[in-house]
Amino acid sequence: MSNQSDKKLGHSTHMNGSPASSDRNSLTVGANGPIVLHDHHLVDTLAHFNREKTLERQPHAKGSGAFGVFETTQDVSKYTKAAVFQLGTKTEMLARFSTVAGEQGSPDTWRDVRGFALKFYTSEGNYDIVGNNTPVFFVRDPMKFPHFIRSQKRLPDSGLRDNHMQWDFWTTHPETAHQVTYLMGCRGLPKNWRHMHGFSSHTYMWVNAEDERFWVKYHFETCQGEENYSNEEATMMSGKDADFHRRDLFEAIERGDYPSWNLSVQIMPYEEAKSYRFNPFDLTKTWSHKDYPLIPVGRMTLNRNPENFFAQIEQAAFSPSNLVPGIGLSPDKMLLARVFAYPDAQRRRIGSNFHQLPVNQPKVPTNNYMFDGNMNYHHSGNQPTYLSDTEGRPYADHTGPIEDGWEADGELVRQAYTLHPEDDDFGQAGTLVREVFSDEERTRFVETIVGAIQGVRSPVLERVFEYWKNVDQEIGERIEVAYQESVKAEK
Ligand code: HEM
Repeated sequence: MSNQSDKKLGHSTHMNGSPASSDRNSLTVGANGPIVLHDHHLVDTLAHFNREKTLERQPHAKGSGAFGVFETTQDVSKYTKAAVFQLGTKTEMLARFSTVAGEQGSPDTWRDVRGFALKFYTSEGNYDIVGNNTPVFFVRDPMKFPHFIRSQKRLPDSGLRDNHMQWDFWTTHPETAHQVTYLMGCRGLPKNWRHMHGFSSHTYMWVNAEDERFWVKYHFETCQGEENYSNEEATMMSGKDADFHRRDLFEAIERGDYPSWNLSVQIMPYEEAKSYRFNPFDLTKTWSHKDYPLIPVGRMTLNRNPENFFAQIEQAAFSPSNLVPGIGLSPDKMLLARVFAYPDAQRRRIGSNFHQLPVNQPKVPTNNYMFDGNMNYHHSGNQPTYLSDTEGRPYADHTGPIEDGWEADGELVRQAYTLHPEDDDFGQAGTLVREVFSDEERTRFVETIVGAIQGVRSPVLERVFEYWKNVDQEIGERIEVAYQESVKAEK
C-alpha cells in the first residue's frame, strides 16, 4: 500500500491526514525570526527522520531481492506431501541474496559467502529456505557461530577488518576447512547473484502422505550458467560500483530478463542416516552425488522487483522455523539453533509484530494465541484470548509423537557429534581441491590464499600452512612457497 501523500492526492498531509501547509518553509516569528515549537509538522518531520533507520541484520546486512514464482514440474509426492511441492503447483515467492560479513553499503563483490534466502507463500503457510550459495558451512556447533561472525567483522579498537583474526578463527577450528576451500576457490566470488547456485546446506526432513520420512538437501542450479569473477575483476568492480549485484538483479528484471533456478533434491531414506559414511547432519559435509543423485523438482523464476526496498526487502523476515506440513527439521545442531535465532533477531530488528507486515504475512488465514505488542495491526476481535472449550475458538491439541520427529540419544551432554566412518575435518576439502578444481583453479586458489593471508602474524601464519597441508599436502606446500616469495618480493 502506498503512502497517503501520493501524487493522486494533489497535496501532502500531516500525520493525522489533514492537509499540510508547507513542506518547504518552517513556521517562524517573521521571516527572519526563530522557529516556533508548535510547528508540529516540522517537529514530526525531523523526529521521524531520526527514526528512519532500523537495525541492519547482524550477519547478511547487505543484500537485495525480488519476487517471483516457483513451479513444481516433477512428481515428488512419494517423498513429501507439502502442497508447494505437488506437481503443477505454482507458488508466489520472495528471494533475498546477500553477503555475510559486510555492513549495509559494503561492496557486493567482496569475497564472501552469499546468502540465498527464499520465502514461499504456500497454500499451507509460509515456507522459508534460508540457505547460502555453498552446500556447507564453517562450523557445526551453534555455540561457535557468533565467534565466527565476529572474526569476520571488525577489530574492537580500529574498527578495521582483519585477515589475522579471520585465519586465527579458521585455523583453530579445522571443521571450517571445507567451507574455506569453497570461499577461497573460484565460487567464492560469484559474478552476480543471477549466475550463482543456491543450497539449503542443511539436511531437512520430508514426510509423505503415508507418514514416511526422508532426509533431504536442496540444490538450486542457476539457469543463467554459473559465472564467477577473478580477484582483479571483483576488486575493480568494488571501486566502480559497490552495489553491482543489487543493480544487476534489479535491471535484469526491469528489462524482462527474468532469472531462474532449477531445484533438485538429494533424498536419503530415513534409516540410512545412521550408517551413512558421513554424518548426514554435519553441516560441514556434503552427501556424495553418487550415493544420492539429484532428483529434479521444479523451477523458480524471479519476475517482479520490489516497489519499495525498505518495506519489502529490508523488513523481510526469513527463518528456518517457517515450515509447512510435509517438511520438517533434522538433528543438525546448527539448524535447530537457527530456529530460535531468526525470529528473535526479527522481533528486535523489525518489531514484535514483524510477521504482520505484508511481505512477511502468510497468504492463508491465521489463528494464533499471540496478542497485542508494539504496532499490532491484525487482531481477532472479541474472541477468547485463552484456550476455551466453550467459546468456540479452535485451538491445536496434538499429543504423542510428531510426524516430522526423530529419535534422540537420551542423556544431556556437551559433546561433538559422534563420528561416522569417513568423518574428518579435511577429507572433503581435499577432494574439492584435488578432484573438482582444475589446474588453473588450483593456481588461482593459491594466489587468492596468499593475498588473503597478508598481515597474518605468527603463530597463526604457521597454522595456516599446516591447515592447508592437512587439506592437501601439495597445495599447502605451494601456498607456503608462494607466500614466502610474496614476502621477498615486498622487500
Ligand atoms: C547457528 C548458526 C546461525 C545463526 C545463529 C544465524 C543467525 C542469523 C541471524 C540472526 C540473521 C539475521 C536475521 C534477520 O535479522 O532477519 C541471519 C541471516 C542470515 N543467515 Fe544465518 N545464522 C546461522 C547460520 C546460517 C547458515 C548455516 C546459513 C546458510 C545455510 C545462514 C544463512 C543466512 C542468510 C541467507 C541470512 C540472511 C537472510 C535474509 O536475507 O534476510 N545462516 N543469520
